[in-house]
Amino acid sequence: MTETSDQGPLIPRNRAVHPPAYAIDYKTSVPRSPRWSLLSMDSTPSEETGPTFGHGILGEWDNNLIMNRTRGKAPAVGERILVHGRVMDENARPVPNTLVEIWQANAGGRYRHVKDTYFAPLDPNFGGCGRTITDGNGYYEFLTIRPGAYPWPNRANDWRPMHIHFSIFGHSFGQRLISQMYFEGDPLIDHCPIAATVQDRSQLDRLVAPLDFSKSRPLDFLAYKFDIVLRGRRQTMFENKIEGM
Ligand SMILES: [Fe+2]
Repeated sequence: MTETSDQGPLIPRNRAVHPPAYAIDYKTSVPRSPRWSLLSMDSTPSEETGPTFGHGILGEWDNNLIMNRTRGKAPAVGERILVHGRVMDENARPVPNTLVEIWQANAGGRYRHVKDTYFAPLDPNFGGCGRTITDGNGYYEFLTIRPGAYPWPNRANDWRPMHIHFSIFGHSFGQRLISQMYFEGDPLIDHCPIAATVQDRSQLDRLVAPLDFSKSRPLDFLAYKFDIVLRGRRQTMFENKIEGM
């Protein structure tokens, strides 16, 4: 089924190449993955054409996770990094004015969440969430700190690689992408059962942001480049959930 949007045809996600919802080595995927075959429902016009976002919804510090917890008063602890890139559609055209949201653990590998009881302390100056809207060329950037790796209750000794969670709305709800960005050179990527749900190495590599010295600022921060393709042959892999078209 081909959906339409004001940007042209919307190519549905090819579920055959994205990670399966059920992955035996990823324990929580077992109870949460569907037991029954999925029903195909017609999408509504609002799913295909909206929402639209304006830069007016953004606050001054929204894409600066180093400072947004304290609204510019005190920086978060950790390695300062810039994460940047372009959001593109299936035809490699930039996707302008789309909402990009991220959330992540702090430098010690702990989330600001009531269920996260890891030993690493919370950083009073770090919230862990940010958002921005792509510019006319589909470009976005976040200033943040590099998240720490953290252990999680799965198999006997599983650790998540350093990662940042991403949500990108695209042209419409139907095109929304939810995934995770990893960091070039992190040895834990090859030991992670969640990363392993992406079964093709070249597809996993699209979730790994390379170090980008061209955008790093001397004596301030390193940069990592993460381009995102919403659909088509070069699409960025969805995490192993089944939301969206
Ligand atoms: Fe996470």
